[in-house]
Amino acid sequence: MNAARIEIRRLATADAVAYRDLRLAALRDSPEAFGSTFERESAEPLAWFRHRLGNGLVFGAFRSFELLGIAGFVRREGEKEAHKGLLVGMYVRPDARDAGIGRQLIEAVIGYARQQVEVIQLSVVSGNERARRLYAGLGFVEYGIEKNSLKQRGHYYDEILMALDLMRDGDSDGRMPRADGARCEERSSSTAVPS
Ligand SMILES: CC(C)(COP(=O)(O)OP(=O)(O)OC[C@H]1O[C@@H](n2cnc3c(N)ncnc32)[C@H](O)[C@@H]1OP(=O)(O)O)[C@@H](O)C(=O)NCCC(=O)NCCS
Repeated sequence: MNAARIEIRRLATADAVAYRDLRLAALRDSPEAFGSTFERESAEPLAWFRHRLGNGLVFGAFRSFELLGIAGFVRREGEKEAHKGLLVGMYVRPDARDAGIGRQLIEAVIGYARQQVEVIQLSVVSGNERARRLYAGLGFVEYGIEKNSLKQRGHYYDEILMALDLMRDGDSDGRMPRADGARCEERSSSTAVPS
C-alpha cells in the first residue's frame, strides 16, 4: 500500500456510516486494544456514531473514498486539566497496516493538539508491542503502568501510560528520535470519543 495516496482528514457527521463500520470492526477484531466493547457499541443506532463525530474529534485515513484508519483526540475537561489531551480509539484496518497510515494519523492528531494542549497522553495494553513501538517512534515516552487496568471475562490487562510533551520537542512536526519501543484508552471524564 502506498501511503502517499492516503488522505488524512477530520471526519464529519456525513462519515458516520463508514466510521461506525470501521469502529465496530476494530472492537470485534482487536477487543483487547479498546476500553469499549463490540457488544456495547453494535447495539447503538447510527445517530449515536453521528453524534460522536459531531461532538468529538476523529481523524480518518482515506484511500479514494475508503476509510482505512481512525484516531481520536479528546481534550481533558476542567480548568486544571485542560492543558492535557488524549489520543484515543486508534485503529488501522489489517490489510492497510505497515504502510505508515498509523503514523500519519498520529501526526494529524499531534498537529491539531499542538494548537490546543501542552501534552498528549495515551494508554496502551502492555502486550501491544506494535502500537507501543509506533508511539515511541513519534516521541511518546512511557511514564507509568496501571496494573490490572482492564478486566474482561476474568482476565486482567495492564496498561502502559505514555505521553508526548508538546512543549519540549524541538522541531515543528512533533517527531522525536526513534526509540525502541496497544489500546488507546479514554482516561477523561469526557466521553465524546471513547477509546
Ligand atoms: C497499532 C496500529 C494502529 C498501527 O497502524 P499501522 O498503520 O500499521 O502503523 P504504521 O504503518 O504507521 O507503523 C507500523 C510499522 O510500519 C512501518 N512503516 C511505516 N511506514 C511504512 C511504509 N511506508 N512502508 C512500510 N512500512 C512502513 C513502521 O516503521 C512501523 O514498523 P515498526 O514499528 O517496526 O517501526 C495497527 O496495528 C492497529 O490498528 N492495531 C490494532 C488496534 C490497536 O492496537 N490500536 C492501538 C490501541 S492503543
